Amino acid sequence: MSPFALTRTLPPDATAAALRADVATGLTRTPKVLPPKWFYDARGSELFDAITLLPEYYPTRAEREILLTRAAGIAEVVQPRTLVELGSGSSDKTRHLLSALPSIDHYVPVDVSESALAGAARTLLAEHPGLTVHALVADFQYGLALPDTPGPRLLAFLGGTIGNLQPEERAVFFGAVRSGLARGDAFLLGTDLVKDERTLVAAYDDAAGVTAEFNKNVLAVINRELGADFDPADFDHVALWDGRREWIEMRLRARTAVVVKIPALDLAVHFEAGEELRTEVSAKFRRAGVREELAAAGLELSRWWTDGQSRFALSLSVPVSLAV
Ligand code: AVJ
Repeated sequence: MSPFALTRTLPPDATAAALRADVATGLTRTPKVLPPKWFYDARGSELFDAITLLPEYYPTRAEREILLTRAAGIAEVVQPRTLVELGSGSSDKTRHLLSALPSIDHYVPVDVSESALAGAARTLLAEHPGLTVHALVADFQYGLALPDTPGPRLLAFLGGTIGNLQPEERAVFFGAVRSGLARGDAFLLGTDLVKDERTLVAAYDDAAGVTAEFNKNVLAVINRELGADFDPADFDHVALWDGRREWIEMRLRARTAVVVKIPALDLAVHFEAGEELRTEVSAKFRRAGVREELAAAGLELSRWWTDGQSRFALSLSVPVSLAV
């Protein structure tokens, strides 16, 4: 059997159609809004990688610290043969898990980006010759149809990306995770934690301006894919903390009144001076909330680990009626 297979559960034009729909809906409503997944073309992914190295952006380092120190704790709960990683991207964190959990011999990266999947698979196969990789091009927000790989399975959703989902979307997502797990399987989740506003806002509004460029990259994506004429210089990067909903919002604020043409949609979008377009929600969590949301989906929290500064948490949960 070949050590590499790739399954596409998204039709090749699904991404283009979804972008058109999101832009058409999001830029004609009030307030204007776009989902954060459109940041990540090649340039956006590069900018995100740069963000993870910024002094202000602690989540990546904090999560890595936990992964490196708690792998043995993961093995106490589950000795996985298959690692399923949702939103695997460059699969950088996967390295730590694969080296620390030698029971894993199947890896299932799931991502919307086929190029990211192919690249990551190549690197990991070179480093772990015994590994079988079954990559899945899929948008996990629309259900999880996983390939038939040997259990137990460890399903990982790392990086705090769960924070990009609204509470109702998280409930649906956790439900899909639960139904994808069998007895003996486990779910590993990375969540950024609620903390002081200064630290949070700085992480999304860095001094070097990398996050501002990342935020504005969504305009370049729309220009390229839909022939639009956004001028990124017409917009300011905004990062703010919503203390009631406990999430960070990123927005793009029009510096003056502007009209943007989007030929592919036959649309002209008007921005008033100061009008804001919300480009991302990044929710922050507390242990009790995570436990409750998981429990509502039939998942029982069995481990909760934070980094030394309690900035970020990794949790391990198991299917409830099957809990051991
Ligand atoms: C990749 C969604 C976890 O929300 O912190 C980083 C994306 N946005 N800086 C996050 C992001 C601005 C990141 N996630």
